[in-house]
Amino acid sequence: MRIAVYPGTFDPITKGHLDVLERAQRLFDKVVIAVAANTGKAPLFSVEERVALALESVKGFENPPEVISFNGLLVDFVQSQGACAIIRGLRAVSDFEFEFQMALMNRKLRKDVETIFLMPRESYTYLSSSIVREVAKLGGDFSSFVTPHVEKILKEKFAKSL
Ligand code: COA
Repeated sequence: MRIAVYPGTFDPITKGHLDVLERAQRLFDKVVIAVAANTGKAPLFSVEERVALALESVKGFENPPEVISFNGLLVDFVQSQGACAIIRGLRAVSDFEFEFQMALMNRKLRKDVETIFLMPRESYTYLSSSIVREVAKLGGDFSSFVTPHVEKILKEKFAKSL
């Protein structure tokens, strides 16, 4: 069985992430969404909330993936899942340098794990979780970028912090 891990901060998961996930599911027998607990970012949502939002977002999938949080090195998590690949989305040239660095470092750490880059649909290439958070915070319409559940929770989050 070919297993891949799709890691990220997912703060929150967007339709761009879901698009990459769907593509990965066509290539692998199983894809696990790995929500990083510590990413060096200061996430809006706790790791438990980010896992819950991802789980809710994939509910309608024909083959809903597992969503698991992880701490520590990604390659160790990949190994613990019996996976052979890491999935990353490449949206624009600007993603390349960071992704290239991470892929090569992960290869250095564990040479039997490959990183696979998938391109999301063009209409999602400018999308990022922080842009969605910012539009949500400022009261704009972000309904086409996230699932209705994520939209609701984001709105509630900012309503509370006002
Ligand atoms: N659609 C929409 N947005 C996307 C996207 C897509 N298809 N692909 C990436 N993004 C966005 C994310 O929303 C995020 O946006 P933000 O920065 O505005 O919040 C940004 O692109 C990149 O985030 P993400 O894909 O979640 O990755 P990340 O850079 O936050 O996560 C980890 C990086 C978690 C994979 C990495 O830090 C890691 O592996 N950590 C574990 C520790 C480790 O092993 N370190 C050594 C690594 S070499």
